[in-house]
Amino acid sequence: MRPKISIIGAGFVGSTAAHWIASKELGDVVLVDIIEGMPQGKGLDLLQAGPIEGFDVKITGTNDYAETANSDIIIITSGAPRKPGMSREDLIRVNADITRECVAKAAPLSPNAVIIMVNNPLDTMTYLAKQVSGFPKNRVVGQAGVLDTARYRTFIAMEVGVSVEDVQAMLMGGHGDEMVPLPRFTTISGIPVTEFISKERLDAIVDRTRKGGGEIVNLLKTGSAYYAPSAATVQMVEAILRDKKRLLPCSCYLEGEYGLNDIYFGVPCILGAGGVERVLELPLNEEEMALVKKSAEAVSASIATLKQL
Ligand code: LAC
Repeated sequence: MRPKISIIGAGFVGSTAAHWIASKELGDVVLVDIIEGMPQGKGLDLLQAGPIEGFDVKITGTNDYAETANSDIIIITSGAPRKPGMSREDLIRVNADITRECVAKAAPLSPNAVIIMVNNPLDTMTYLAKQVSGFPKNRVVGQAGVLDTARYRTFIAMEVGVSVEDVQAMLMGGHGDEMVPLPRFTTISGIPVTEFISKERLDAIVDRTRKGGGEIVNLLKTGSAYYAPSAATVQMVEAILRDKKRLLPCSCYLEGEYGLNDIYFGVPCILGAGGVERVLELPLNEEEMALVKKSAEAVSASIATLKQL
């Protein structure tokens, strides 16, 4: 039997994730949305790309959560995207309501699934998904770091004129403008990035990475990024379904790691069949730790707001 992946929210991120999943033949896809006909139409359209692209997966579009039963993975993308001038935090009220409803409907039907959260404010919505689902911490994870490092790697590759494939990077923190790219853990094929880029240019790249989501929102004007966010999500799906034990930055529930407690926060982790199998604690220096703390304060404040809603 093929794995089953349910995507809640068939907007740009959800439907593009379905596209990447189908093209990689990772499993059967159920695309759910509240808008009548839309997930059915997108699902059928994508299914009809199968004979051309040569993928053999089942793709179902539906308004009925019953069709998601016994999923291996549930991806939650539902929610409002940002408009220019908005921060991810501005979405908390509307997206908390949507997240509550989606998770409450989907989780009981797939009690063994791993939930991957994609909506914003990311770390806070992932915290909420854990609360609502009652799933253990290893089976509720947020997608942010894979996207943020992809942006960072792209900018580095552009700057140096090397393949993006050869840029490896780590990044920590909440999925907000306080995120913490880590130049000390960034290499080009094992060579420290500082051998290629001046501190001044690297600082500018870090700054552009932090504001990477906003840069796209300002260009699109009517929504936020979706190609890279969905590709990042599908990399996590693949790591879990194929038990790859990938070491990726993800939003994980922390209980003491980095001195942080009861928070979802971007950290390096091992992703495999069990979901988040291990959180890694990097030996951060004082300066890096200070940045992590600042980012954690912003996420904690957002979680505190959530608790008051
Ligand atoms: C971004 C939004 C989706 O970073 O959070 O593009």
